Amino acid sequence: MAITDDTLWYKDAIFYELHPRAFFDSDGDGKGDLVGLASRMDYLQELGVDCIWLLPVFSSPLNDDGYDIADYYDIHPDYGSLDDWIALVQEAHNRGIRVIADLVLNHTSDQHPWFMESRSSTGNPKRDWYVWSDTDQMYPDARIIFLDVEPSNWTFDETTGQYYWHRFYASQPDLNFDNPAVREEMLNVLRFWMDTGIDGFRADAVPYLIEREGTNCENLPETHAILKDLRGVMDAEYPGRILLCEANQWPDDVRPYFGDGDEFHMSFHFPVMPRLYMALRRADRTAIVDIMCRTPAIPDTCQWCTFLRNHDELTLEMVTEQERHYMWHEYAPEPRMRQNLGIRRRLAPLMDNDRRKIELMNSMLFTLPGSPIIYYGDEIGMGDNIWLDDRNGVRTPMQWDDSPNAGFSSAPADQLYEPVIDDASFGYQRVNVAAQRVDPDSLFHAIRRFIAVRKQHKVFGRGDLVFLEPADLAVLAYLRAFEGEVVLAVHNLTDSHRTVTLPSVDFEGAQPVDLLRDEPWPAASATSYEITLPPYGYLWLRLR
Ligand code: BGC
Repeated sequence: MAITDDTLWYKDAIFYELHPRAFFDSDGDGKGDLVGLASRMDYLQELGVDCIWLLPVFSSPLNDDGYDIADYYDIHPDYGSLDDWIALVQEAHNRGIRVIADLVLNHTSDQHPWFMESRSSTGNPKRDWYVWSDTDQMYPDARIIFLDVEPSNWTFDETTGQYYWHRFYASQPDLNFDNPAVREEMLNVLRFWMDTGIDGFRADAVPYLIEREGTNCENLPETHAILKDLRGVMDAEYPGRILLCEANQWPDDVRPYFGDGDEFHMSFHFPVMPRLYMALRRADRTAIVDIMCRTPAIPDTCQWCTFLRNHDELTLEMVTEQERHYMWHEYAPEPRMRQNLGIRRRLAPLMDNDRRKIELMNSMLFTLPGSPIIYYGDEIGMGDNIWLDDRNGVRTPMQWDDSPNAGFSSAPADQLYEPVIDDASFGYQRVNVAAQRVDPDSLFHAIRRFIAVRKQHKVFGRGDLVFLEPADLAVLAYLRAFEGEVVLAVHNLTDSHRTVTLPSVDFEGAQPVDLLRDEPWPAASATSYEITLPPYGYLWLRLR
């Protein structure tokens, strides 16, 4: 199976985010690695995903699990070598699966030689590669992101008596993007990894590249100019490959990251994510409809990337204060479940391990605009461990089977990088790939079906969105339309049966097909449609 040559491939693709440390350990050291991941490509192919995004595997002291890079041109020995990386990309491509890497531009590790030089003296030639100040009073309007641990975005450096700037951990000093040498070097980093054959990048934390007094230091015009330069290099040297933007911002502030189709190809849609959870809990579609209506149009060559969970806490930055408290109250009843402005839990536990709700959330993800990304393990309903440090509770070993260490590693259990999930509901003896692969009724096969059906219809990735407004707010219904194909998606957000009459659409002459069951559906006789859904039920109906 070969990689397609459609340059807009990402508009129809299903993405899969994974942590190489967590996927498969090939050498028995207790940590997943690139060779291990390459050996599991058959699984990803069976699932049907088109593109995998790998968390950072570069040289790093791992204070932020690899988002603190100490050498941009090398692989951390835990994961293997550059040759292993190239072999992995090749193996994925042979299976028709693309690979994107993480591009961490904003900051390095404090162990990076650039920073060690920079902090060695105020006159060092690398001094200006980072952001230094005599006071910690500059940029007071910039928020602190890792609120639980960092009191300030400035940290005092004893050696040179100045403060350095960091938007994340103090061990992650921000690079100074006003310095042309920094910008040039990061273009070299981009080229280096693109030349290994990858298909693009998920670009980390891009709103924060530039700081300016009197602003909140996010989304500044100078930052966009730098990102357009990156895109220019991609277009000129690596056509057909993509840049995916991580900007945890409101839709109006994310819109400029697409530019006129000359900045990012894709961007995560952060605000819709918590609203899917809110709508389900409240049995009221309003939050979803409102945020989608607040989402501006994007250029034709661009695409949203939508998700339910990822490797970070479930972020509640893009909600109101009141909504955040609602989410915490409903989904993080124990204090330990809360982290920074979010929730350190996985999808299945958030859904009370209720298959119907897990599928319903995925059904919305797969039918709303954007290309969906699945977080590894969520396709089998993996659980979390809220007692692990930082965000590690959602980064535990992939559960392959019911053998020791969940089949992830042959190391002694106490040598795993993190323990496998072993509780009564989500333990690997119960929740694992091997069991779900052979069970046609498993969550794995339900997600596989979503993927397979979605891939047959461009309307999901490219179609317009029109909400229908049945009187019952607990029903979310919309039409997706593209080049003459029309699909109706209906979701019941409650735990009781619901019957709705869908108004204001011309159903006359429709030859409906239930896409997921591949069954014809009674043709509509009038200009309205009556549909009954079971508790948490959903339906994808192809009308034309
Ligand atoms: C990543 C985090 C990381 C941070 C700093 C984020 O946006 O998703 O995992 O800690 O950037 O690099």
